Amino acid sequence: MVVAIDGPAGAGKSSVAQAVAAALGFTYLDTGAMYRCVALASLRRGRPAAELTPALEISLGERVLMDGEDVTEAIRTPEVSQRASQVAALPAVRSAMVERQRSLLRSGDWVAEGRDIGTVVAPDAELKIFLIADPAERARRRALELGCDAASVLAEQAARDDRDRSRAQSPLRPAPDAIEIDSTGLALEDVVARIVALAPGR
Ligand code: DC
Repeated sequence: MVVAIDGPAGAGKSSVAQAVAAALGFTYLDTGAMYRCVALASLRRGRPAAELTPALEISLGERVLMDGEDVTEAIRTPEVSQRASQVAALPAVRSAMVERQRSLLRSGDWVAEGRDIGTVVAPDAELKIFLIADPAERARRRALELGCDAASVLAEQAARDDRDRSRAQSPLRPAPDAIEIDSTGLALEDVVARIVALAPGR
């Protein structure tokens, strides 16, 4: 079974998806971490992302490994976030990542988080959630996490959201059968409980 959780940056997808996976005993898949690895490799090596992608080894779990190196923290910088949103718009990068994600999701039970899980990666997912939140609240949460100011996070977030929504391939949008949850003003546990309650019997 696949639970797909999509939505814009900072809507709380990662915390929600990890908690839902733990509650259901499913495996958590952070597809954003894959695009972040491609971005980091391209920044470090100064080579086009599309060229690097085929040979790049990415392993996701407690820690994120890129070609065997632990990059769990290195992929979370603002610079990598911006580059990730750019490389995620490249068709060659997307098709390679989508193929890897589909092959992981083929067996077992998953909670997969991203932008296009319900629309492209796993259109047959048994449960699809589109998680949104007020942009100012999203920026405030991210700023708290990163320890920087909310205004600059808001500007960066808007640029990233725009790029994620307007790209030609797999733009960020809810699947027609996705259930939209607005997490503004809701506690993490409430969002998780709602999703877990929707999961059985699907
Ligand atoms: O969820 P995140 O912030 O870690 O994602 C990093 C970037 O990757 C973000 O700009 C959107 C992109 N992304 C994507 O296009 N498709 C996905 N399935 C996951 C992430």
